[in-house]
Amino acid sequence: MKLLTKFRRHSLARPALLILALVVVGLGYAGVNPQRSSAETETTQQVEQGKALFDLTCSSCHGLGAEGTSQGPTLIGVGAAAVDFQMGTGRMPAARREAQLPVREVNYSQEQIEAVAAYVASLGAGPAIPSSEQYSPEGLSDDEIARGGSLFRANCSACHGITGGGGAMPNGKFAPSLVDTSSRHIYEAMRTGPQQMPTFSKDVMPDQSVREIIGYLEDANGQPNHGGLTMGDAGPVSEGLWVFIIGIGGLSVVATWIAKKGARAR
Ligand code: HEC
Ligand code: HEC
Repeated sequence: MKLLTKFRRHSLARPALLILALVVVGLGYAGVNPQRSSAETETTQQVEQGKALFDLTCSSCHGLGAEGTSQGPTLIGVGAAAVDFQMGTGRMPAARREAQLPVREVNYSQEQIEAVAAYVASLGAGPAIPSSEQYSPEGLSDDEIARGGSLFRANCSACHGITGGGGAMPNGKFAPSLVDTSSRHIYEAMRTGPQQMPTFSKDVMPDQSVREIIGYLEDANGQPNHGGLTMGDAGPVSEGLWVFIIGIGGLSVVATWIAKKGARAR
């Protein structure tokens, strides 16, 4: 008891107690919540890494805080999905201003892309990078894929063609072919609406409908072919050609035969 009283009177007692209290609280917190705090540092590191890469390769057009410049729009609020789509298809970083950026080879690792995406997402809320359950068409029934077909014809084919082969648009722009686009990038394009493409939000187009559209595109473009002649798979043009060759060709054979027979009978 005497020792304690002596200690309390000591001039360093208060600061020492304060530090002790802080250490106890800190240890307690770390003990209660170790996972969350390590996940948090991981995210912070990822955001910092992303910011460094962004400052180096994107800020010349999008600004040092992604607030936009005369060379590129603001990215505040576009979300991680927009960055994953733009960088993942090689559109960004743009080399120069052009009417429409082509799909190019990707020179960044998925890890780097996700870091930049995390940084951009930290600046303002927007669509997140989806998980595979959100876009994978695996396990869809034939009925659901057929529904994806009608959704695609109603919402997308005007620009992208009936089976997603692509199409021209005014002013030298074009809606690209969707044949080689990955399921994740299709999902992200719909949620972020690049350039002239409208944005399809979750209210308009729930994840299930997006999966059905992706299922339809895979079914229409990706083999396995479900039987029948593909006739070059170029749609109405080649089908018309075959009808022309076999149809008209066959008719002229029949006509020649009738004419010959008629001539003999006379
Ligand atoms: C040479 C200039 C330039 C550079 C460098 C550049 N961008 Fe862009 N970016 C643009 C322009 C212009 C647009 C708008 C036109 C378009 O969407 O094609 C754009 C659009 C975008 C969009 C779409 C925004 C939206 O509203 O959906 C994203 C995301 C994006 N850029 C990310 C990046 C990232 C990340 C980098 C760096 C890795 C980068 N950009 C580098 C010029 C640039
Ligand atoms: C008004 C015309 C229009 C409509 C409607 C439209 N798109 Fe697009 N889409 C575009 C344009 C233009 C681009 C190219 C944007 C760019 O290059 O930045 C594009 C790009 C895409 C891409 C990226 C392809 C790639 O090569 O990276 C996908 C995927 C896509 N659209 C899917 C869809 C789907 C699915 C629908 C229907 C739900 C749809 N689009 C409706 C015009 C359209």
